[in-house]
Parts: sequence; structure tokens; C-alpha cells
Amino acid sequence: MTKSDIISILEPIIDTDLGQSLAALGAIHDVEISGNRVRVFLDAVQPLHWVARRLDHDCKATILASFPGAEIEVLVRERGGSTRRMPALAGIKNLIAVASGKGGVGKSTVAANLAAALAQRGASVGLLDADIYGPSQPTMYGLSSETMRAEKSADGKVIGYPNEAYGVKVASIGFVMQRDQAAILRGPMLAGYFTMLVEQIVWGELDFLIFDLPPGTGDIQLTLTQRIPLTGAVVVTTPQEIALADVRRSIQMFSKVNVDVLGIVENMSYFTPPDMPDRKYHIFGKGGGQSVANEFKVPFLGEIPIDVRVREGADEGFPFVLDPESGALGDAFRQVAENIVRETRRTNAHTTEAPVEISI
Ligand SMILES: Nc1ncnc2c1ncn2[C@@H]1O[C@H](COP(=O)(O)OP(=O)(O)O)[C@@H](O)[C@H]1O
Ligand SMILES: [Mg+2]
Repeated sequence: MTKSDIISILEPIIDTDLGQSLAALGAIHDVEISGNRVRVFLDAVQPLHWVARRLDHDCKATILASFPGAEIEVLVRERGGSTRRMPALAGIKNLIAVASGKGGVGKSTVAANLAAALAQRGASVGLLDADIYGPSQPTMYGLSSETMRAEKSADGKVIGYPNEAYGVKVASIGFVMQRDQAAILRGPMLAGYFTMLVEQIVWGELDFLIFDLPPGTGDIQLTLTQRIPLTGAVVVTTPQEIALADVRRSIQMFSKVNVDVLGIVENMSYFTPPDMPDRKYHIFGKGGGQSVANEFKVPFLGEIPIDVRVREGADEGFPFVLDPESGALGDAFRQVAENIVRETRRTNAHTTEAPVEISI
């Protein structure tokens, strides 16, 4: 068993997210051998929360097939990530916007459960509720009676600290402005509030900052998406045609400002009565999310059924996906989270271009 033996059997292993071999990705950094022991050093595109275990397993199984009895250790380092043009966000590896063309489709519910699923998988996660029309993350995380702790920094700037629940750091536009205020502020002034919200909150080091955007594709959304160096956007929709028309506008908006659409999540896809587990009632229509994803050649990230437990969790301040009894419904959310991580890795594997400036 030599170093070159090991490298040559590892080289063809496929990083399934990226669809390329470890050789093509330049991912095999080093291999050390002493006697029966093998240490493999890999460089993989982050975020690694799902792929690390898979790579570990695939490398070990491949080596063991040729060298039974070898004692193997796989050490994975991360690389890649989009450019961080905003110093305030320097500690944040991936900034993901959750958007929708229309309100009420479950954008906040998906954002809340996505953040929780990522945290449960071991990621450090922040959740920024920027929905001026109806900030709901404080409620969904049971933090609605909290206020944001703020202080003046040495240079006189006000800085705020997010609140934390279930291992997720949460901050909301509701903490820095009144609801009625939103209606009277024009786009550029609102953008000032958003910048404050983004720049003056101390997030610390994060693997993911999930951004719950206001619904729609107007000035506010455009300003936000061009000011903040997003890694990518996830668009949430329900299956019916009237919601899909808005999804098309969302996708077009993101492409205008050069933000990658990581994919489409279809929420409220169907209803399965608890006493009829084999039935699926497509209350809002069927297959709309998948077909709009095909139309724009963006990934389809999964479907989430309608279930009273999701709504109850949201109202009670408990992201449903964290329920140990969440079962198949929890798996639907976890699958969406895993798919988003895969698409984020695909984006991070390329160098991202700076968003194009557009004046409003
Ligand atoms: N899959 C689902 N099953 C049941 N209720 C849901 C589901 N998704 C969202 N809801 C409920 O629908 C309402 C709207 O969802 P919300 O996430 O607030 O939408 P948005 O942020 O798009 O306006 C909320 O009461 C929420 O609890
Ligand atoms: Mg919302």
C-alpha cells in the first residue's frame, strides 16, 4: 500500500453534489501512510454539513475494498465561497435569501424550518427577518416578547445582538422599525433601514445567514438583493398558476441582479388526511413548482405538504422540523435543506460575479 496506490483509487470517487471526481476537483490534498494506517486530507467545497459524512464513507469503503484491514482517517478541509464585499458580513460563509412573489405561500415557514434543519445538522445559523409587511420569525421562534439588545460601539455606532432560540440566531426588522412606518417610507429610505439591520447586527461566525425577504419583486426587494452579497436565492411557491406567475417575476428579478436562484420549493403541495395515509389531495393544483423550475432550468428543491402540525409549530414558536416525531413531514423539510446545501456548494464551486448595480 503506497501513497500513489491510495491516490489512484480515491481519484475516481465522485463528489455527488458537484458531479465531478475528486481528481477533477483537485480535492485530494494529501495522503499519509504509516504501516496499516492511512490519513486522507481532502479539500471540499463548503458547506460540508451533508457531504462530509458521505465523502468519509466513500473514501473509507473504497480503500477498504482494496486494502482490507486498513485503519483510515479522512480529514476534510473546506474551501470556496462567494466574495464578501460587505465587511460587516465577513464572518458569514453563505447568505441565502428566501423569497416569494406572493405573500402567504409559506416563505417564512420554509425559512424558519430551513434554519432549524441546518442548525440541527451542526451548522451555525442566523435568521434575518426582513419582511416589513409582516415580520414573523420572532413568533415562529418564540421570541416575540424579546427586544434586541443594543449598545453603542467605541466609534459611536449602534450595534445590536440577535436573540437566540433552538441554536439559531434571530433578528427581525420588527426590532428596528415600527410596522406602520414601513407603509410611509419610500424604497431608498427603507433600504437604509435594511442596511442598518444587516450591517449593525453582530452575527459572529456563521455558516449560513437565512434572509426572510419581503414578498414581491418591487423596489425594496431589488435594492436588498443588489446591496447584499447573496450566495443565492430560494423561491417559495404554492402549486397554482396564479402563484407561479409571481415566481417567474422573482426569477427574472434575481437574474437581473446576477443572484443565483438555488431553486424552487413548492409548499402546500398536497394534503394527506391523518386517517388516510395513502391519499394525496392536491388542493392548490399539482406539479406547478416542478414545471416552473423546468421552464427556467433551475433546480426543484422539493415539495412540502399541508399539515396542521406545521401551522401549529409556527404559531407556538417551535420550528416543526425539530420535533423528534416529525417523521416523513420533517424529512420533506430536511430534504429541502439538503438540496439547498447541494446547490449552495454548486454555486460556491464557481467564482461568483459581483451583482450588477441597478438604480431605482
Ligand atoms: N406546509 C404548511 N402546512 C400548514 N400550514 C402552513 C404550511 N406552510 C405555511 N403554513 C401556514 O400558512 C400561513 C402563511 O405562512 P407564512 O410562512 O407566514 O407565509 P409567508 O411568509 O409566505 O407570508 C401561516 O399561518 C403558516 O403557519
Ligand atoms: Mg412571511
